[in-house]
Amino acid sequence: MWWVWCESVRCLSVNQLEVLISREQIASRVSEIGKQITSDSAGEPVIFVGVLKGAAVFLSDLVRQVKLDATFDFIGVASYGNPVQQGNIWDSTGEVRLTKDVDRSLRDKNVILVEDILDTGLTLTFIKRLLLGHRPNSFRVAVLLDKPSRRKLAIQADYVGFTIPDKFVVGYGLDYAEQYRNLPDICVVPDV
Ligand code: IMP
Ligand code: MG
Repeated sequence: MWWVWCESVRCLSVNQLEVLISREQIASRVSEIGKQITSDSAGEPVIFVGVLKGAAVFLSDLVRQVKLDATFDFIGVASYGNPVQQGNIWDSTGEVRLTKDVDRSLRDKNVILVEDILDTGLTLTFIKRLLLGHRPNSFRVAVLLDKPSRRKLAIQADYVGFTIPDKFVVGYGLDYAEQYRNLPDICVVPDV
């Protein structure tokens, strides 16, 4: 059995995690989104900007499903404070800061921001404001997962992989205290 030590003093084996979205479902949906982006952006070069670290896996699969002149870059953000010490592990403080900026200007580019999950909307709102400051030609957002029931700010993605209930999920890039990002399926962590 494969055990993982989490910083919040919990040991969870992967066998304790219930699969919410299988690797086959993910692959099929990512392919559909890739086709949609290919058709929506036909004839235009695009730049995918992934949000570290959670979106890295989604971005790497998505860009290979897009038949366009495409490049990619990454941005890093963090919430102030330690979310693990708050009531819920996924409750961020709401104060977001930049830890890594894009390497090149996005001026006049067709930007597709790639995020793992849209939850309260605080992170995406911060990033959107920041990247619009580059004055791109166009700006769209692709998220693998959307948890609309927890939204605090009115923001939507242009491409959504799956809409999910208010559960804490891991795998396919998403973490719990930095663990489980390498799981091929998206799984639910029992109440934390
Ligand atoms: P927001 O600012 O509340 O929308 O949070 C977005 C960020 O919170 C995501 O990029 C994730 O890093 C994290 N997050 C929110 N929900 C989950 C979850 O269920 N699993 C793992 N990370 C999550
Ligand atoms: Mg994230």
